[in-house]
Amino acid sequence: MRRSLPAVILCVAAVFFVVITISTAGAQKKAPEPMTLLLEGAKLPPTPFSHATHVEKAKLDCVVCHHKDKDPKEPDKCTQCHLLKEVKDNAIPAKDAFHKNCQPCHKESAGKGVKAPTKCAECHKK
Ligand code: HEC
Ligand code: HEC
Ligand code: HEC
Ligand code: HEC
Repeated sequence: MRRSLPAVILCVAAVFFVVITISTAGAQKKAPEPMTLLLEGAKLPPTPFSHATHVEKAKLDCVVCHHKDKDPKEPDKCTQCHLLKEVKDNAIPAKDAFHKNCQPCHKESAGKGVKAPTKCAECHKK
């Protein structure tokens, strides 16, 4: 039996698609769950953070927080760009970057009746 050329091309393309999908899924970095955020030299207790809460429950895209990574699904640490003290290439220091990322959204959520921490001690938990 002879197959037509388009059918063969389609089969080859399908195999490639499957292989590429599997290999990129396998390569995806996984964040620890839950994680603890703590800046170097921090004076306050660390801040807990859960990807499950934010990605599954709150349904946020990776890029909402991993906003400058070439591939937001394969992100670097925020502190790669947001340094401890000084501004580098317009990137504000890490403490301010975290606060400006976490707090406005939590305030907005609280306004909509979804409970998310907004007070110092709710994030910096002993
Ligand atoms: C929505 C969560 C959240 C809230 C609310 C919050 N912070 Fe933070 N804060 C963070 C994160 C995340 C970091 C970076 C990781 C760390 O060190 O905790 C941070 C870092 C800091 C740092 C630098 C690290 C240290 O411990 O010295 C200070 C100081 C700080 N926050 C003070 C405050 C104060 C004061 C308030 C209340 C007015 C507050 N934060 C409210 C999330 C929060
Ligand atoms: C609500 C904000 C937020 C969302 C949404 C989010 N992340 Fe994160 N993610 C963080 C924070 C904050 C860190 C800690 C970064 C640090 O330590 O500087 C982190 C860390 C990571 C790390 C570890 C990076 C490292 O090298 O230590 C990976 C991997 C990661 N996230 C993947 C993802 C993926 C994939 C998605 C989407 C499915 C996602 N994140 C969505 C906030 C978020
Ligand atoms: C690859 C570098 C890079 C990484 C990684 C990165 N940022 Fe940024 N970020 C920047 C730069 C550069 C700016 C300056 C503003 C701009 O160009 O959009 C910025 C701006 C911000 C701002 C806006 C500040 C303002 O003035 O409103 C927030 C908030 C922020 N980053 C939080 C984060 C958080 C949280 C993470 C980690 C989850 C992160 N960033 C990871 C480079 C980075
Ligand atoms: C764009 C919106 C958004 C951003 C950005 C965001 N959060 Fe949240 N966060 C939420 C919402 C919504 C909830 C409540 C989810 C629920 O319980 O339904 C929440 C809940 C939480 C909780 C309590 C529930 C739990 O998982 O323990 C913590 C702690 C928290 N966030 C930490 C952080 C920190 C730290 C950051 C910044 C690095 C951050 N969040 C950034 C939307 C956000």
